[in-house]
Order: sequence, then structure tokens, then C-alpha cells
Amino acid sequence: MIKFPEKFEWGAATASYQIEGAYNEDGKGESIWDRFTHQKGNISNNDTGDLACDHYHRFKEDVELMKEIGLDTYRFSIAWPRILPAGKGKINQRGIDFYKSLVDELLQAGIKPAATLYHWDLPQKLQDKGGWENRDTAKYFNEYARIMYKEFGDLIPRWITHNEPMVVSMVGNLWGEHAPGFTDPQKALQVAHNLLLSHGMAVKSFRESGIDGQVGITLNLNHVYPKTNSKEDQLAKDYCDAFNNRWFLDPVFKAKYPEKLMSLYQNEYDNPFEMEKGDLEIISRDIDFLGINYYSRAVVEYDESEKLNFKTVKPDGVEYTEMDWEVYPEGLTDLLLRLNKEYTKAPIFITENGAAYDDQIAEDGQVHDKKRVEYLEEHFKAAKQAIEAGVNLAGYYIWSLMDNFEWAYGYDKRFGIIFIDYENEQTRILKDSAKLLQDVIAKNGLDK
Ligand code: BGC
Repeated sequence: MIKFPEKFEWGAATASYQIEGAYNEDGKGESIWDRFTHQKGNISNNDTGDLACDHYHRFKEDVELMKEIGLDTYRFSIAWPRILPAGKGKINQRGIDFYKSLVDELLQAGIKPAATLYHWDLPQKLQDKGGWENRDTAKYFNEYARIMYKEFGDLIPRWITHNEPMVVSMVGNLWGEHAPGFTDPQKALQVAHNLLLSHGMAVKSFRESGIDGQVGITLNLNHVYPKTNSKEDQLAKDYCDAFNNRWFLDPVFKAKYPEKLMSLYQNEYDNPFEMEKGDLEIISRDIDFLGINYYSRAVVEYDESEKLNFKTVKPDGVEYTEMDWEVYPEGLTDLLLRLNKEYTKAPIFITENGAAYDDQIAEDGQVHDKKRVEYLEEHFKAAKQAIEAGVNLAGYYIWSLMDNFEWAYGYDKRFGIIFIDYENEQTRILKDSAKLLQDVIAKNGLDK
């Protein structure tokens, strides 16, 4: 039996746009994801989050299921346009009421709420003014954060300012696969900077509010490995690591941007993005914990023809999930050790880890997601190894509580430990992976 530390917290995570539905109900404003999914051709099958898992109406049933699994904590996100339909100004009380009811339900079930303030659904009205490329958006985000602290400060003990600023900036503004769908490198860099700035501002507001809780940020990090030990591949590794990981870790923990990558950008553009004096001090304010989302690793080789000198390669003879992401639990251990060594001794939460597989309802009416069970077991072991090596790992949230709208892939990809039968009135079925988690939580350990 592998045992976890006494106060270790087990949870599951979701995000508003991916599960709530009710996209235009009770005064909610339009978000950039509403706009993006309503334009044909952006998402597999032209799926949208209009209905999603209908969690907005079924949250009581969903909290019941969380209770059945035995979750210590639940990570969800707040839809900014439910609270402020235009992004700023007039507050929509019905939006606040929805999250009050959800949080009440969680607290009654003995589940600790952990709220993400921004999991990608920016009010469209702010996008119309330039979105995150506009520095004012950071100011509006901070105002929104203050409203949430005031309304929920005594109810929600754990706050995450942003989810994956790398994905927001790069996938949404450089690769164009996510809302708002731009492919402009300088825009992407500006967005990344303004997101980080807004994080720092919201941390300051949190301290000023005097809330007795924790505030942090969630970064998607994948440990990078060179394809070979050659000097060139090592260099490729450094660039990829700077692009994926350090561009966000370094400002938050060291008040600087990675130099080599910055000079590469400076060679390309006179002024890669606007930054004001003092921004890095704001961004690097102390946080109470770091949230990390880990799914896979990256393997890279040197390629001169690439702008950033690296190209990702896909190792052979290894396992991949339905997302085509390599299953590589050792990468989680390596990543945690690196964070502990180079970045922080503050508690770390795995705020997302999980896998997409092509789940089916079996003849017995159950969902036997063997591969996901194995994936999770291996990653639990990898986490435990890091704890043994001295990493201050405080908790683990599975992505995701339930199957949901997987962004550009729509409903094609299932990440849940609860199956959603979209064709059959959205019936919820606990998969075998949910039962694994139930058992792990009950024992605070793994039977292997
Ligand atoms: C995001 C989730 C997403 C998951 C799987 C993360 O990038 O935070 O919203 O569903 O990974 O792709």
C-alpha cells in the first residue's frame, strides 16, 4: 500500500464553459467562447458549450456524486460574464446567486471549494475592446476579482487567479485554435504579459481583502527532454522549456523573463511587447501555492528552420492517449523535483491530471475505463515518489470530474471519471476510474 501524507487533499476539477451550459440564461453576458463556437468551422462537429453537461441546472446531482466519490475538494471556475455581463460595471446578481448555491451545496457536503477566476471565458464585450491584448483588461479582471473576494471570501478558502496563461496566450492568439482565434505572435506575447500582470494585481487585492485563505496560479507545465544528448538537442530543449514553462514560471517566481528567448524575440521584433516599469514586481508577488496541470512530456530536437529552433518529436513504442499525448508518469516526478529545486518550497497542488480515452457503456451498464485507471495509478505513484523525495505536494485534482466540452475537440474527447451520456438525457455514470479514486480517498493510499 502506498500511503499519502495525512493532510493530502484529493479532488477533481472542471471549468465553467466546459460543463455549465445555460450560455444565455439568467442575465449571463456573451463570452469569447460563445462567440468562437457559434462560428462554424472552429470546433469538431461544430459543437458548442450552449448546453454542455447542463451543470448549471444539475449541480445538486453533481455535488451528490462528488460526495459519493468522497472528494475532499472540488476545483471549478467562475464564468466572469455571469457576474459582469459586460466584463465591468453592472453586477448580475443571478450569476452570484448561482455560485452561492453551488458553494453552499459543496460546503454542506463537506467538500472544500477551490475557485478559478479565469478559465478562458472572457466577456466578449472586453474582447471587443482588444481583450487581453489591452492592458485595461488586467484592471477589469482585478475589479472582478475584488467583487468575488467580497462575495465569497468567507466561503471559498482556495483561489486560483488564472488557468494556464500559456494556453490562453499561445493557443488562442498564436496558433488560433482557441478563442479568440488569432495567429499573431506579438499579440500572443502581449496577452501573456497582461495575463500575468492581472494575476499579480489580483494577488495584491487578495492580500488587501484580508481573506483567510490561499491564492495561487495554475500553470500547464510539461517537462521537456532532448531527443539525444547532442549539444544541439540540449539547446532545443532549453528553447522549448523557455517557451512552454519558464516564460510563465520565471516572471511569477523570479521577476524576470527567460533571457535567451527574450533576445530571440528582440532580434525578430524591435519591441516584442509593451511592459511598464514595476510590472515584474507586481507579477512576482508571493503566492500561497502553485497549481500545476500535468498531462504529458515534450521531447524535442534541434531544427534550425524553426523560429524557436526546436521541433517536437513523437517517441515510438510508447503509449498515447486519445489526445495523442504520450503517457509519461516519470515526467510528473521530474517536473515536481525541478519545481522544488528551482522555483518554490510553497505547497504545490496538481490542479489537473488525467487522460482522454474512447469510453463506452458496457453491456452491464458500467464504464470500464481500464486505461484511465492505469494512467491514474501510475501518476499517483509518480506523485508519491516526488513527495518521498521532499516535494511539498499538498493535493491532487483529477481532470476531469465529468466528460465535458473539450475545447477545439468538442465532445469527441472524454476526460471524465464520470461518464456523461449526451444522447440519453445526460445521464451520469461513475466510471471505474471514479471508483478507483473513491478507494484511494477512503484509504488515502493506493493498493499497489
Ligand atoms: C485545461 C482544460 C482541458 C484539459 C485537457 C487543460 O489544458 O485546463 O480545460 O480540458 O487541459 O485538454
